Amino acid sequence: MSVMITLETDYLGLKLRNPLIVSSCSLTSTLPKLKSLEEHGAGAVVLKSIFEEQIMGETAMLERYSDYPEASDYLHNYLSDDYLRTHLELISKAKAELTIPVIASINCAHAGEWVDYARRMEKAGADAIELNIFMLPLDMTRSSDEIEQAYLEIVNKVVAAVSIPVSVKLGIRFTNILSIAQHIYYRRGKGVVMYNRFFEPDIDVDNISVVSSDPMSTSAELRNSLRTVALCSSQLPMLDIAVSTGVHSGEDAVKALLVGAKGVQICSTLYTNGLEVIRSMSDYIESWMERHTFSKIEDFRGMLSYKGTADTEDFQRVQYMKFFPKDR
Ligand SMILES: Cc1cc2nc3c(=O)[nH]c(=O)nc-3n(C[C@H](O)[C@H](O)[C@H](O)COP(=O)(O)O)c2cc1C
Repeated sequence: MSVMITLETDYLGLKLRNPLIVSSCSLTSTLPKLKSLEEHGAGAVVLKSIFEEQIMGETAMLERYSDYPEASDYLHNYLSDDYLRTHLELISKAKAELTIPVIASINCAHAGEWVDYARRMEKAGADAIELNIFMLPLDMTRSSDEIEQAYLEIVNKVVAAVSIPVSVKLGIRFTNILSIAQHIYYRRGKGVVMYNRFFEPDIDVDNISVVSSDPMSTSAELRNSLRTVALCSSQLPMLDIAVSTGVHSGEDAVKALLVGAKGVQICSTLYTNGLEVIRSMSDYIESWMERHTFSKIEDFRGMLSYKGTADTEDFQRVQYMKFFPKDR
């Protein structure tokens, strides 16, 4: 007798038809693209981030007009209002025309006046807000603690401003990711996304210059998050984790769920394999569940988290001390 299988799940308190969430990128920047993602089977979408600088009025452009205070004031109002209006319209139209949850995203680095716009996003209908926070450490006198406090200050302010769930999309380079995740939870953050994949510069040795690297990830990069998601999901089970970076196939998505993720964010695979990959990923999850006789995601989610696995040593091993392949 075959079991009835459902991929329905919840993430940040939202009901998702499946855990595949299209992460914030250019594919989530217009209404037609969002509708197409829904038609292709996405469980939820995170809109392209609105940038703190954009909310605050395109500062770089304004600097050029700094000798003309009136022009600067005019541009400040025009740019911020116009940009914001378009973005808020996208949220409300997406909410009117899609049935899947719509998560708004803000790229930010300071807890500034822009926080008020989070409230306007909520009013426009956003189901949740994802804070894409990153501060490039350029100042050696600024301690890690100071930087982390700035992250938490942003979370504090946004959580106080809205009543929808707030999650934080983190970068990979924290000394103690569990500590920052816990503090986000203490400040009533509902979830964390592990991890953002930033634009990284590369070096062209022929032309001796700095160049752009490939913006698309590979499946191997998923391993950057499996261990920390396994640790975080067992130590902070009340925090919803979404995995981002390196999820390219249904098998990758199952791995993320097994270590305890509630949501699985995808981006590069959509650019490289087309939107059809969403359906093939959900089909894979379903057939994998059937093979293992699981009927719902919660039957296996976290089975290989730090607490879930009998051999926790597997997650603690970081050095290669005992691993010497014979033929190398
Ligand atoms: C073209 C492009 C645009 C992106 N824009 C954003 C953005 O606005 N905000 C954000 O939080 N992440 C952005 N990202 C990062 C993705 O959401 C995602 O975290 C990253 O690509 C890693 O996931 P992947 O391995 O599935 O690609 C962007 C990525 C790409 C490739």
